[in-house]
Amino acid sequence: MLAYRHHFHAGNFADVFKHAALVRLLAAVAAKDKPFFYLDTHAGIGRYDLQHPWAQKNAEFRDGIGRLWDRNDLPALLAPYMDAVRAENPNGRLRFYPGSPLVARRFLRAGDRMVLSELNQTDVAELGELFARDRQVTVHLMDGYHALKAQLPPAERRGLVLVDSSFDRAGELRRVADALALAHERWATGIYAIWYPLMEPPAMRGFERDVVATGIRKILQLELAVRPEGWTSSLRGCGMLVVNPPYRFDGEAEAIVAWLERVLAADGSRRVRWLVPE
Ligand SMILES: C[S@@+](CC[C@H](N)C(=O)[O-])C[C@H]1O[C@@H](n2cnc3c(N)ncnc32)[C@H](O)[C@@H]1O
Repeated sequence: MLAYRHHFHAGNFADVFKHAALVRLLAAVAAKDKPFFYLDTHAGIGRYDLQHPWAQKNAEFRDGIGRLWDRNDLPALLAPYMDAVRAENPNGRLRFYPGSPLVARRFLRAGDRMVLSELNQTDVAELGELFARDRQVTVHLMDGYHALKAQLPPAERRGLVLVDSSFDRAGELRRVADALALAHERWATGIYAIWYPLMEPPAMRGFERDVVATGIRKILQLELAVRPEGWTSSLRGCGMLVVNPPYRFDGEAEAIVAWLERVLAADGSRRVRWLVPE
């Protein structure tokens, strides 16, 4: 039984950070004329009602998407992300927040393919319903780490994998590093976007060591902290590792994270660097 429910956190700063970066990766992948494959190993329900009692409980979206919604000074790099959110709210009032599957679906062209895995039975049922009539999307009730084994390498030989674990069990940073090593062994040229929460500094150093020890090259690391170091009463910040980022993604990531820091993190910090260069 999985305890984590993303509905409590939908649209929070971590979702904004994650989906804003995801959109740049997808835009780059979809800019080339060849079909691509997209795998979301921890897909969630796909769409979140922010008026649902779970979303209202701590109203985390208010300090996330809520801070961007009414602004008219968004950088052009964020436009496709906001388009994805606006598409779910055609009457102009923020009520629904798109999860990564809906954000990504907007980038699929006729020949592209998307596979979603989710381990929570209730969530996967909702997700399946959302894409029931979509022949380009397949939804599996499956452990995301098994999905990596089952789906890679994809026939298309190009594309993107999002690993967005809920980190609700011990040892997950290690599991993620191991999963990356395994996936990369099967498919070395894919783009991998791996989200993680900022934990205690020793845990983060251990994670970085484990990732570096895989021997994988070309790993960009993006982080956004909305609270100062030592903060423990809520999620302090989050990061994303991007393996094989598209050309110029590093500059885009720096611009996006810098802007998000200004808008979402009065008391925080950011970091964009090559954890492992080419
Ligand atoms: C952070 S949420 C995903 C959010 C989604 N990627 C998005 O951006 O909209 C993590 C999801 O992973 C699911 N989950 C937890 N462990 C899993 C596993 N081993 N395999 C697949 N899904 C899992 C949870 O039920 C939850 O829906």
